[in-house]
Amino acid sequence: MSDYKFIDHTYDVVVVGAGGSGLRAALGAAQSGLKTACISKVFPTRSHTVAAQGGIAASLGNMSSDDWRWHMYDTVKGSDWLGDQDSIEYLCKNAPAAVYELEHWGMPFSRTEEGKIYQRPFGGMMQNMGEGPEAQRTCAAADRTGHAMLHTLYGQALKNDTEFFIEYFALDLIMDDEGVCRGVTAWKLDDGTLHRFTAQKTILATGGYGRAFFSCTSAHTCTGDGNAMVLRAGLPLQDMEFVQFHPTGIYGSGCLITEGSRGEGGYLTNSEGERFMERYAPSAKDLASRDVVSRAMTVEIREGRGVGPEKDHIYLHLEHLPAETLATRLPGISETARVFAGVDVTKEPIPVLPTVHYNMGGIPTNFHGEVLTKKGGDPDAVVAGLMAVGEAACVSVHGANRLGSNSLIDLVVFGRAAGLRCGETVEAGASQPAVTDDMTDSHIQRFDRLRNAEGSHSVADLRLEMQRAMQNNCAVFRTGEVMQEGVENIASIYDKIGELNVEDRTMIWNTDLLEALEFDNLIGQAAVTVNSAVNREESRGAHAREDFADREDKEWMKHTLAWVDEAGKVKIDYRPVHEYTMSNEIEYIKPKARVY
Ligand code: FUM
Repeated sequence: MSDYKFIDHTYDVVVVGAGGSGLRAALGAAQSGLKTACISKVFPTRSHTVAAQGGIAASLGNMSSDDWRWHMYDTVKGSDWLGDQDSIEYLCKNAPAAVYELEHWGMPFSRTEEGKIYQRPFGGMMQNMGEGPEAQRTCAAADRTGHAMLHTLYGQALKNDTEFFIEYFALDLIMDDEGVCRGVTAWKLDDGTLHRFTAQKTILATGGYGRAFFSCTSAHTCTGDGNAMVLRAGLPLQDMEFVQFHPTGIYGSGCLITEGSRGEGGYLTNSEGERFMERYAPSAKDLASRDVVSRAMTVEIREGRGVGPEKDHIYLHLEHLPAETLATRLPGISETARVFAGVDVTKEPIPVLPTVHYNMGGIPTNFHGEVLTKKGGDPDAVVAGLMAVGEAACVSVHGANRLGSNSLIDLVVFGRAAGLRCGETVEAGASQPAVTDDMTDSHIQRFDRLRNAEGSHSVADLRLEMQRAMQNNCAVFRTGEVMQEGVENIASIYDKIGELNVEDRTMIWNTDLLEALEFDNLIGQAAVTVNSAVNREESRGAHAREDFADREDKEWMKHTLAWVDEAGKVKIDYRPVHEYTMSNEIEYIKPKARVY
């Protein structure tokens, strides 16, 4: 144990994660004159934002009439009224400026004939406060929007003197006795050194935890490392029961086929060749919101109308679209379909299945990105020194279900907000209290325990057990009985952490240990997810219970908070949903039935 030594660094702001939100927050803090570090376990342009395809939502009105209030209405409705309306107002109102900022930084958007940013329809995006017709609101760079955005932001972050620490794996938050976050510890993968970053603000931008599930569109790196650090710091995660299934993951591999493909005119059929979405969402059809489409597909398969020899998936048709549209607007998924499904999209349909795609839940924050906890009677108590943005955060604009293309805009709007907040609250170069070893001893103990784990279970085996339990017991449709089984399965896997086996004891590029640390991060999130799910006795957004089929606003229009202790025991409490807007430019949007 005594062999471990930290190399110390001091910054005004440390951002953990170099995806869209992390880069936007880091460059914003740096622009405010703050000494800013950004640490990332992968090279920044390999962050999972790179995989985002269809686009970024903003009411530019380039290709249909639009208004940020219409965008707000759709987002509130999409969230099934679990979103905080002050944050949603902030998101939708600031979205156009955030997109123009990216444009001015050189992001290569697709263009209309007149040279304006190209915008396509996406699920649940309508004109006229939900009345329709559909709004073309999703700004796109072909079907590689995340790729274009990530490279643009990385360039800007470098230009603004953000200091990068690349291939550093963040271990834990440094918390003092007062509950103030003082920074973060990390393991440098390529030389095995350990690092302690002290900062006035630590911003978690570590993404989602899709890899807790067996089939997901998320990269292997999406292990929710920041969420897990928050849980280990004794803080809660919020609304973890809300996990989004994207309707069109490729059957078998789970690779994403963008919703933009339906935005460009693609449609789904069952084994009878029927465009079944017309029955489930007569108005929006294939462009209903994702939870609605995923449920409809699941019902079709359950009722025996799935396609393929096992009747266990659905077809997505693009072959009727003009070849030019496929080549210019959907080149990426055309290639993905060829490589991962062996399908020529100009000739045959793509086999697809709802696949885990996004975590609506995460670290509770306000619209500045400041992390919140429940303290005394205050449900919105700010955790000093700690911020979170992006998919890791739950601000909460997506509530119970996120609309497609609202993720990329969330990254840049709230990444920017966090940078601005640092500018307002952090004094450049101010002296910081020393970080003492007792604040980081537990980090070393966990690291050393896993490094020397000599049990009988490989990480791969336990991870697979967890992923299968989450996939089966926390699925598109849920019942109390099935989720309770999930609670027990996850608890028994949690109990086996002490029996993990790690073969490689080295410090340099030890992927065996890295995967053990990531699994340890995932299992805590799996536990709070399945416990939060069984606890919520209603159906709302992505949480569709067969034993509690209705939304129950009186009892359940509230955010779940969930803590986990070292033994894996989950504690649940609640925060009120913000039933107010930020300004008088729009009134609170009252709950009503959600029909598409
Ligand atoms: O379908 C897609 O292109 C995904 C977009 C999103 O999740 O926002």
